Amino acid sequence: DNDVENDVEKIQSCSQIVDAACLLRDGEVVAFPTETVYGLGANALSNESVEKIFLAKGRPSDNPLIVHIGDKGQLSTVARDVPEKGDRLMEAFWPGPLTIILPKTDRVASLVTAGLDSVGVRMPDHPLALALIREAGVPIAAPSANRSGRPSPTTADHVMTDLNGRVAGVLDGGPTGIGVESTVIDVTVDPPVILRPGGVTKEQLEEVIGPVELDPSFQVGAVETPRAPGMKYTHYAPEGEMWLIEGTPGHVRVRQADMLRAAKENGLRTGVLVTDASAAYWEQNADADVVLSVGSADHLDQVAQQLYAVLRKFDEEKVQYIVSETFPRVGLGMAVMNRLEKAAGGRILSV
Ligand code: TXA
Ligand code: MG
Repeated sequence: DNDVENDVEKIQSCSQIVDAACLLRDGEVVAFPTETVYGLGANALSNESVEKIFLAKGRPSDNPLIVHIGDKGQLSTVARDVPEKGDRLMEAFWPGPLTIILPKTDRVASLVTAGLDSVGVRMPDHPLALALIREAGVPIAAPSANRSGRPSPTTADHVMTDLNGRVAGVLDGGPTGIGVESTVIDVTVDPPVILRPGGVTKEQLEEVIGPVELDPSFQVGAVETPRAPGMKYTHYAPEGEMWLIEGTPGHVRVRQADMLRAAKENGLRTGVLVTDASAAYWEQNADADVVLSVGSADHLDQVAQQLYAVLRKFDEEKVQYIVSETFPRVGLGMAVMNRLEKAAGGRILSV
């Protein structure tokens, strides 16, 4: 870990924001904190720059990137014909964890949108991100700053673990506040469609623009091809095989214990992802080698904030088989469950 610390330049001070912006203008990639997760940024108007994001992440190039703007003035550079509901969403949620899909302008580098006519735009609610984008003076394309397929990074150390030696710098803003990515909503259709659940809830969106639909791809049991191209890949996954067990708490525990015991008998190192209320129970249970809590089930904001760090911790602990609790799919629970389902690669059991 010390090697990681030493090899990658951490950029923190005010003058370092200037340096990071300078690197971005020079066509380099720089990781930076947002209120959701860390992003890996490059000049959104330059294909040559954006290509470096895909190379650093090992990301398939048919998966479009979100463009981040530092002020409303930059919007017309990247998007046009904003529908009225789009305006209302920006007014209500920007800066904040909402990405809005809009018709794109010709100036957006084609690699950013993977050839689509639309572009996802958001204004992040983080002082370092906003300062960096404003200083760079160009819109910044930025996916999450993880190697493709890994859990998204919520600390600068996570970024360095994944991308050390692959990026020009990392701006360190400490742990991110929300912990799951932005909500992606398509307003080029009416009613608008949520393509990815995230930091802004469906309920919050509907208060502002009325009914919104959910893309069928992330509803339970769905088999349709997702319209947000990124949703079709295995994502956010720990290295161990992960299972989600749904049902009444008593039944869930019994099944989890059975599964863990069987895994242990097969020589696997086991783990359980829990909430605080059941942590003590599992600490007593010899079938779970590693017990990690994502916080109180009554505080989904804490659960969201902890989730990716906990998934990464299972890897650090070399856990090979993980069973997890589940959460109600309402409010932030929709985003939390979506990420858990991805992490589990669709391995869900109802008991
Ligand atoms: O919170 C976030 O959104 C973070 C931070 C860094 O801002 N970024 C992020 O980016 O999560 P990324 O690239 O990991 O996820 C972008 C998602 C993908 O699911 C992608 O398919 C979808 O947004 N997306 C981007 N542009 C799109 C478009 N034009 N149409 C449909 N989906 C789009
Ligand atoms: Mg991502």
